Amino acid sequence: MTGTPTRTPDPVERQPDRSARTGESYDVGGVRLERPFKIRRLGHFGYNCVDLDAMLDFYVEGLGLIISDQSGTMPSRLPAEEQANLTPNERLLHFTRFGSEHHQLVFISQRVWDWVGQANGSAGASINQVTWQVGSLAEVVDGAEWIWGRGERLLRSGRDMPGSNWHTYLFDPEGHINELFYGMEQIGWDGLSKPRPMWTGVLNERPSLPQPSEASEIAGARDAGVDILSGHRAGTTAPAGFPVDGVLMERPFKIVGIGPVSLFVTDLDEARRFYTRVLGFEVRRTLEWNGHRGVLLSCGTDHHNLALYEASLRDALGLDPRADSLALGFRLANYRQLRAAVAHMVARGAEEIHIPGELVPGFDYVAHLRDPDGNLVQLYYYQRQCAPDDPFPATVSGAADGWPELIDPPGDVFGGQQFLGPWE
Ligand SMILES: [Fe+2]
Repeated sequence: MTGTPTRTPDPVERQPDRSARTGESYDVGGVRLERPFKIRRLGHFGYNCVDLDAMLDFYVEGLGLIISDQSGTMPSRLPAEEQANLTPNERLLHFTRFGSEHHQLVFISQRVWDWVGQANGSAGASINQVTWQVGSLAEVVDGAEWIWGRGERLLRSGRDMPGSNWHTYLFDPEGHINELFYGMEQIGWDGLSKPRPMWTGVLNERPSLPQPSEASEIAGARDAGVDILSGHRAGTTAPAGFPVDGVLMERPFKIVGIGPVSLFVTDLDEARRFYTRVLGFEVRRTLEWNGHRGVLLSCGTDHHNLALYEASLRDALGLDPRADSLALGFRLANYRQLRAAVAHMVARGAEEIHIPGELVPGFDYVAHLRDPDGNLVQLYYYQRQCAPDDPFPATVSGAADGWPELIDPPGDVFGGQQFLGPWE
């Protein structure tokens, strides 16, 4: 684990990329912003997997992610001779979660993606997607149009099942696939995902607005005779034997958060331009280690949600040549559980990798484990939070007749806890 009892100061450089300001303004829910969307948080992430069986064992059996659905739709598009070479797990996409969102980490066979990705140039990528939540369906649709209008490369827009989220996919300058989404299906106390007869809303084009609400879709399925309780239900795989802060659990920790994401890039300045000027991230910090540069970016109050590192760092750290990312972060519920998670994973065979602390500021204690495909998992329990320097007095009266229709944004607008799923 990286961390010492004597903490070194970690002054945050708040560096809003003022040079990025376009002079344009858009009404985003009554707030005047520079683009017609605001990324709120990382929603999910996808890996293309070489050893899918071992990856599922590591993340599901080891780290405790829960399978919310498995779908054979994409693998079934491969030619029959290609499908014949796939293992049973490779014939499925595996959607997993640790909380209520339908999927937070997705596993896809590298062989399946290499065939699918031939059409868009993403074959060979180890990352399938980096997926950011925006605030509404309108932000997805208007955002896609705005991004396209700036000459960036979109992949597709629409809605996918399972998960039900509306989205647009786009490429960053390095070819990493980003996704903006709204309205991820939420899985409740019964652990049931939506049944397959409700996977009918797939859309492969820009949706017209407005669309029906989640509640009306569910009512429609009921009226059509769909057994809405027939979806996939997660089952436990092991007896609950660990007392964890007052609860008997299957393992001595609980993952409660995903991110930050870190990407290797060949042109750091161009990647920084894309993530700040196009997607609207703020630069929180720049860093350099042994001649390799990095930029840490945030979309909210977390120290950072995205880290960009020069790709030369991959070899310098001895990481797997196929890794497109330095690491994917997961937050444990507390410090004790962080220690327990590292010990648990090492005991079942995971290798801990030392990453210099200078490369991963924003944490106090952080550990990195190598997964079976050579990606790093970044485990921590807490990330520094960054409040804006500009306190705004609250406007507490005059709503009925005096508040403006469109307001200028406070520095941390739309930050903090987000409502996760679709509106009802
Ligand atoms: Fe996605």
